[in-house]
Amino acid sequence: MKVLGIETSCDETAAAVVDESGVLSDIIWSQQIHEEYGGVVPELASRAHIEKVVSCSRAALQAANISTPDVVCATAGPGLMGAVLVGFCYARALAIGWEVPFIGVNHLEGHLLSPLLNEPVPEFPFLSLVVSGGHTTLYLATGIGEYSVLAQTIDDAAGEAYDKVARMMGLGYPGGPIIDKLAQQGNPKAISFPRANRLSIGKSKVAKEDRRDLDMSFSGLKTAVRSYLEKTQGWVAVDVAASFQAAVIDVLLNRIQRAAQQTGVRRIAIGGGVAANSELRKRITTIGLECFIPPRSRCTDNGSMIALVGRLRYEQGFRSSWKDTARSRWKVGQE
Ligand code: KG4
Ligand code: ZN
Repeated sequence: MKVLGIETSCDETAAAVVDESGVLSDIIWSQQIHEEYGGVVPELASRAHIEKVVSCSRAALQAANISTPDVVCATAGPGLMGAVLVGFCYARALAIGWEVPFIGVNHLEGHLLSPLLNEPVPEFPFLSLVVSGGHTTLYLATGIGEYSVLAQTIDDAAGEAYDKVARMMGLGYPGGPIIDKLAQQGNPKAISFPRANRLSIGKSKVAKEDRRDLDMSFSGLKTAVRSYLEKTQGWVAVDVAASFQAAVIDVLLNRIQRAAQQTGVRRIAIGGGVAANSELRKRITTIGLECFIPPRSRCTDNGSMIALVGRLRYEQGFRSSWKDTARSRWKVGQE
């Protein structure tokens, strides 16, 4: 069974074909247009998706050596609404034209299950850290479609913090890969930035009673970096990058270790753009858990993770109704 997956939720136009044996094709077009604005401009992203979605999808089918897939799926959210709608509507139109089933996929479930695309595949149950530009959540995955949230950020996502800190430092966009590279030459102990724990977390979008013990916060860290940059003459970029990054990763690893202790689950999988980070990939292997780390190109947005979720959901008997539409917000596991 060949499944076409289309992803357009942010600034990557991507399409891929998967079947039971694995990934048959994986085409990713990263939009460059946002660089000069220092962040994703939603309207420009939608327009660029319109220009690329057809050629990316065709290229994915061609590379997989098929003309018509058995199932078509696309990211249905969460993401930039205009951007999501491009891939979603296009994929649905393809499914109608080809008279094959259509499945709208949750983008975060794509990141969550992306470790299943490569060997060795984690067995359930496993802990899964999804760290991207918009989300930072630690899940307990007990089966396909069975996820519970153990911890999440109550303010900025980790990737968002990377992007904002990079911007403050006058670096480009996206900030994650740039800080990652700079940090390799810096001293992570040069500056002591805060590692927020639950008690030190103040104001946030999440009410106090709705917070979990293991929740995270990156907004205070971002502010600490800003005030350091403001009050320090001749700050050293590589040391700021390394020290900021060390604080982010310390918090992530601390929550993973505590979640492993609380649940007794000793397997950890990671996904999302920040999972492409060299230091996180290195340090996560030192905390005594069995690690499942996708290749970098499957950490950042891609079509193969969407096709994979579509395939697994299809096998479970799930089908999207023609009345379903794209959503800008959509929790994992919610129908
Ligand atoms: O998963 P993703 O491609 O898109 C979203 O769903 O958000 O993640 C993008 C985020 C950006 O914030 C980017 O700066 C960050 O992932 N990122 C990284 C690295 N590569 C991408 N952060 C740290 N280190 C990296 N190597
Ligand atoms: Zn993503």
